[in-house]
Amino acid sequence: MSWKSKDLLTIQDLSTAEIQTILDTAASFKEVSTRSVKKVPALRGRTVVLFFHEPSTRTRISFELAAKRMSADILTVQAASSSLVKGETLIDTLKTLDSMTIDAIVVRHKCSGVPLMLANATNASVINAGDGAHEHPTQALLDLYTINEHKGKIAGLTVTIIGDVTHSRVARSNIHGLQKMGAKVRVCAPPTLLPAGIEKMGVTVFHDLDKALEGTDVVYVLRLQLERQKKNLFPTIREYSMLYSVTSERLKRAKKDAIVMHPGPMNRGVEISSGVADGPASVIDDQVTNGVAVRMAVLYLLKGEKEGEK
Ligand code: CP
Repeated sequence: MSWKSKDLLTIQDLSTAEIQTILDTAASFKEVSTRSVKKVPALRGRTVVLFFHEPSTRTRISFELAAKRMSADILTVQAASSSLVKGETLIDTLKTLDSMTIDAIVVRHKCSGVPLMLANATNASVINAGDGAHEHPTQALLDLYTINEHKGKIAGLTVTIIGDVTHSRVARSNIHGLQKMGAKVRVCAPPTLLPAGIEKMGVTVFHDLDKALEGTDVVYVLRLQLERQKKNLFPTIREYSMLYSVTSERLKRAKKDAIVMHPGPMNRGVEISSGVADGPASVIDDQVTNGVAVRMAVLYLLKGEKEGEK
């Protein structure tokens, strides 16, 4: 299929066919990162801006690597050392970048909706690298890719998402993506870490981790996002861990061939034990590896040379 959208803002906006196209394109790019010369000319002459207003290791570095491996020119705009600190608005900063004829801008921001606001104000492609607790579409895409790589399918699998769903853009994007691809999604957390009305998203809600893990194919552990929690949502971290940490003992409740995923960064000993994070069921390192291929695919579909282009 030919790619139509200018931007990638949410998984909710993507059709099942579009998600499949991204996963297929990522599969063709994955091999590039295994070459001794890790470079193809797919984005030669394009300029990609990385505009991160929140900390990031995996997402920022893998977008940078993805763009570099496709021969794009990269600019990194650091909020703290830009004129944003002098009071310039985001839109004026974007207009300044636009005047220098950029092609794509990868945005992370603590406020939901910022990527959409920027997309409406520029002809450049905007890619959401995480906005508040709203969406993190490329994380869900790399997760779907990793599940398919290990399980050979996504449709029909039971995926259990555990932990701080309320504050998790990763959970929201994954719930949309997994359901579009035919998976059954469970969420498990204390009631205070689940948004009101989460059932309306079509997920099955559990508060008991042992019950939630029964029959699970994919155990997806979320980071406890203490920096976004405005009030005490559980008595202590120790008590949270006792009830909701995924440990080797608890993992025995899931299917024998279940895989364990985490978007990173992990709070080891809080939501996941080191035995599980580094154990045989963990595919966490593969998620990171696949992040580069998936981001190459997204950049290529949005900004690769189109037929008839000068
Ligand atoms: N998964 C994820 O978004 O990680 P970073 O915050 O390190 O980019």
